[in-house]
Amino acid sequence: MTHHIALLPGDGVGNDVMDAAKIVLDAIGLDAEYTEGDVGWQFWVEEGDALPQRTVELLEHTDCCLFGAITSKPKDEATGELKPELRGKGYVYSSPIVGLRQRFQLYANMRPCKAYPGNPLNHRDDIDLVVFRENTEGLYSGVEFSPVPDAVRTSLECHPKMKLFEGVKNEEIAISLRIFTKRGCRRIVKKAFEYAREHDRKSVTVVEKPNVIRETSGMMIDQAKVVAADYPEIELQFANVDAMAMWLIKNPERYGVIATSNMFGDIISDEAGQLVGGLGFASSANLGDRYAVFEPTHGSAPKYAGQHRVNPTAMISSVKLMLDWLGERSKAKLLDDAIASVIREGKTRTYDMGGSAGTLDVAEAVTKAL
Ligand code: IPM
Ligand code: MG
Repeated sequence: MTHHIALLPGDGVGNDVMDAAKIVLDAIGLDAEYTEGDVGWQFWVEEGDALPQRTVELLEHTDCCLFGAITSKPKDEATGELKPELRGKGYVYSSPIVGLRQRFQLYANMRPCKAYPGNPLNHRDDIDLVVFRENTEGLYSGVEFSPVPDAVRTSLECHPKMKLFEGVKNEEIAISLRIFTKRGCRRIVKKAFEYAREHDRKSVTVVEKPNVIRETSGMMIDQAKVVAADYPEIELQFANVDAMAMWLIKNPERYGVIATSNMFGDIISDEAGQLVGGLGFASSANLGDRYAVFEPTHGSAPKYAGQHRVNPTAMISSVKLMLDWLGERSKAKLLDDAIASVIREGKTRTYDMGGSAGTLDVAEAVTKAL
């Protein structure tokens, strides 16, 4: 069966690492058709939309998508870079990757952080954990106000804590809502447990902050207990996010599967990625029930754009995750072994590892090792 795959290189080094991915995909002999699509800063500047409708349609007609990287900037800076004829017309920048996650209901962001032996950047060689980050709601819901409309202010006044803000004007308040749903909590925790079962992991750690953020984090904890009842062989553990940040430095080898909400997962997954070599090694899969987008966790690193200097391992590992998702298990395994052997040999290292190899050198080395 031919797989139909959308390729969205995006901005900056997204293009460099996409070139590396193509070399590897060619070599691995996947039966696939690839279609490139438009996403990123250039389309924001020229069209007022970093994720044009034609790209959404392209994705609707493919099986999955491989994504490079995106440049995001705060609201005012983004508006200032729009081409002059689009300014003042009400265009508002929003992150295309966050948009894709929500539009395609890619509710689970799976971020494996595994130490490949021989990587000089590993904190330890026995780290092998996977973060499941809720990907569609929480602080990333995008329901935000500044200034706060009167209707919103009035409806909030029923809450006793609003006394704290008495006398503060609406235009001096910004609100970003942290919205959780039982459905959202259950499905992210379930993904984590399914993974734990399939990969023989003993526990799932749910990372929240229910002692302070009682309603939303509390909902995640309650729903986790409901889901965990279906997996009696796997232990459900809880950790507060601040403590987790510390324990990840102290005893990262003790953790296997972590499930958490959107913002906490964003932060914890960068930290966990650093333990196994940094963002050059951190791959990710945005998973829904019918569609998936695979992307390195790193950004577009504008200062390295087009130089083919950055480490493409995160991208090549994301290709591995894509092969798994497509059901191409043996090819995925081959690719993972090839990545491991290039790292173990240590002859082809990019600058982050203290070497002088380029992005495409790593792709070629992985190809040879296949
Ligand atoms: C990530 C990134 C994104 C996020 C940015 C680029 C919007 O940091 O994938 O972790 O915050 O989710
Ligand atoms: Mg992030």
